[in-house]
Amino acid sequence: MSSPAELCLQPRPSELSLNAFIEHYGGIYEHSPWVAQAAWETGLTSAHDHPDALADVMGLQLQKAGSEQQIRVIQAHPDLAGKAALAGKLTQDSTSEQAGAGLDQCSPEEFARFEQLNADYKETFGFPFVIAVKGLDRHAILAAFAKRLGNDAATERKTAIEQIIRIARLRLRARATEPQQ
Ligand code: GUN
Repeated sequence: MSSPAELCLQPRPSELSLNAFIEHYGGIYEHSPWVAQAAWETGLTSAHDHPDALADVMGLQLQKAGSEQQIRVIQAHPDLAGKAALAGKLTQDSTSEQAGAGLDQCSPEEFARFEQLNADYKETFGFPFVIAVKGLDRHAILAAFAKRLGNDAATERKTAIEQIIRIARLRLRARATEPQQ
């Protein structure tokens, strides 16, 4: 087993043109390829072939963005256990993240609970509830959902952005393998 420090993204970001980089990494931020473009434009080096280094530079682009642009990225996320998930209309990453947390296994009562919370949350904040679901089961997600509904809008926007940056980091790590020649 190699340690995470040895893992390398394939294809190597530092070897890609802008178009090729967007083709391979444009989806790391859900429906928001401008984040990948802004990261590429900073000038990627071989250090960024490591998933955490690329995650850092991509995350910085989102942190630096204005609040309207940040909100558009939050709004690009699908509801958890929502209608699009039920209809199989999510991106591949979202599908596997939601399924990994068992959200495709909800009972009818749990789906109804998610539907209610999704509606309440969007009514309150104007964007969907986003949480990095890796390592959480649906009970933990529901508990976090109810708790975060009590936050003020500024805290919740900040939390959503932090969670999106974490989701992107996990997506990049999932694309990394041991270095190949
Ligand atoms: N966290 C991880 N994946 C997703 C997703 O597809 N939607 C939301 N809202 N949160 C997520």
